[in-house]
This record gives sequence, C-alpha cells and structure tokens, in this order.
Amino acid sequence: MMEQLADRTAVVIGGAQGIGRGIALALADEGMQVAVLDIEAAVAERTAKELAAKGVRAIGLRVDVTDETSLAQAAAAVEAALGPVHVLSNNAGVSAPQGPITEKRDADWQWVFSVNLFGIVKAVQAFLPGMRRHGQGAHIVNTSSMAGLIAVPELRVGVYTASKYACTAYCEILRAELAPENIGVSVLCPGLIDTELSRTSARNRPDHFGGPLPTPGPMPEEMRKVAMQPEEVGPIVVRGIRANRLHILTHPEMSIPMVEARFAAIRDDAEGELADRRR
Ligand SMILES: NC(=O)c1ccc[n+]([C@@H]2O[C@H](COP(=O)([O-])OP(=O)(O)OC[C@H]3O[C@@H](n4cnc5c(N)ncnc54)[C@H](O)[C@@H]3O)[C@@H](O)[C@H]2O)c1
Repeated sequence: MMEQLADRTAVVIGGAQGIGRGIALALADEGMQVAVLDIEAAVAERTAKELAAKGVRAIGLRVDVTDETSLAQAAAAVEAALGPVHVLSNNAGVSAPQGPITEKRDADWQWVFSVNLFGIVKAVQAFLPGMRRHGQGAHIVNTSSMAGLIAVPELRVGVYTASKYACTAYCEILRAELAPENIGVSVLCPGLIDTELSRTSARNRPDHFGGPLPTPGPMPEEMRKVAMQPEEVGPIVVRGIRANRLHILTHPEMSIPMVEARFAAIRDDAEGELADRRR
C-alpha cells in the first residue's frame, strides 16, 4: 500500500494529453515529482511545464512504448533526473479505426497490441527493476478500459477490445505476483472520456504498421456532452492507488450492470451445460 506519495517520483507514459495528463496533474497535486513520457515529445514537455508551475519537479521526454531501447533510455533518464520511481502509470494507448473485426488486417492487430498490451509489458520490464531496487513499495496503474471488462460489438472497436481484455488479465496476474514485494497493481478502466484518442492514434501509427492514417473528425458533439473530462480521472486514480484497488473505475454506476450482465451470461452457459449433463 502506497502511504506516501508526496516528494516521490511518478512516471506517466502517454502522459502528454488526455487521461494521462489528467493523471499527471493529480499526482503533482499530491506533491509528486512527475516524468511525462510520450511519443509526442513537444506536448509532453508542455505538460511538464504545466506541472512545474504547480511547484513540483517535472520533466517531459519522448518515449515510444513499442521500442525497448527507448523505454530503457527513458527509465535511466527519469531515475537520473528525479530519483527512484514509486508510481508508474502505463497509459499510452491507440485504437484502430472503427470497423468489423473480420476486416481488420494483421497490421492493425499488431499495431494495437504492440501499444496497448506489449507497450505495457515492456514498460513494466523497463521500470520494475528500479522499483524493486529501492524496496520502499511502489504502485503500477495500467490503463485498460471498460472495453477491457465487457465487449460491446456495436462500438466496432473489436481489436481494441481484445487488446484491453488482454491488458486486464495481465494486470490481474501481475498484481498477484508483485503483492509480496509491496508493489501494488491496478487496472484503470475508464468509460467515455473527452479526449482526442482516435486522432492521436491516427497520427502516431508507425511506418512499419502502415504509417499515419487520415485524421478522423473530433468526437461527435452528442458523445462529448456525456463524456467525462480527463482532469476528473486523475483524482479517481489517486484514490485507487491509495486504496490499492485492483479495478479503478471512472463510471462505477455504469460498470455494475454491464459486468453483471457479462457474468450472468457465463453463468447461464455453465448452467446450460450442467443441465445437458444431467439429461
Ligand atoms: N478516451 C476514452 O474514452 C477512453 C476510454 C477508455 C480507455 N481509454 C484509454 O486511456 C488511455 C489514454 O487515452 P486518451 O483517451 O487519454 O487519449 P490520448 O490520445 O489523449 O492519450 C494517449 C496518449 O498515448 C500516446 N501514445 C500513443 N502511442 C504511443 C507510443 N507508441 N508510445 C508512447 N506514447 C504513445 C499519445 O501521444 C497520447 O498522448 C489509452 O490507453 C486509451 O485506450 C480511453
């Protein structure tokens, strides 16, 4: 359990904008020093300046979570500048353009999984040794989604959903493995948040996955009206870290019936199979 946040160091990957920026702001409000890491270096530096204006030490660095060398260099640079890391937020994520899962090409699958799943796995590999070395306890928050708890075909983001389910499972296992070392693990499962995810995803698709995609339009106004602001997510994450919650939910009231429906469907099928066996 992380009792002390103040004067310790946090790393927020995918922290330049959107939810990550919201998390970085909230951690700075707790008195943490923050390293903002993102593939968009200029935006990361701008956010670091915003944090520094709150009176905490902050740096912005470029990192590409699909590149182990980039992550290793960032881990060394953060420790040199801000000291040992106590909180790691793995928040970088991308979504391929909407469409049926049967029409997604290998490159779409590989790109989305390389960021949303393997990007987290690699970032943990890069930062965990430092967290173990200082031995003072630490916390890792990996951003999944409500789409990592329930699959909604109507959203037409099947590859993204599969990657977020994988992220959730990874977090559950990692949490059990690291608990004896006093390193907590949470999975952040946001509902709809007012960010530019589809636009940042499109412009940051690497060349080896087909290069940047045409920039989609902004979030439709009717969705934006009901979306939560990214700055509201940060304090929810801080509460989740302090309570060492496995699931950090931005929309708890919406999550409960959806998760119950998913588990009711599993239970129905199990009962169906049991009834068949009794026949
Ligand atoms: N916006 C939502 O409604 C919503 C809902 C559920 C989950 N999420 C998840 O929240 C996280 C943050 O998304 P957001 O909505 O704030 O969008 P965002 O685009 O503002 O944030 C994503 C960040 O990741 C960075 N990034 C992309 N590829 C990267 C890479 N290879 N290496 C390093 N950084 C990279 C982007 O530059 C961007 O700053 C994502 O994991 C997303 O899947 C978002």
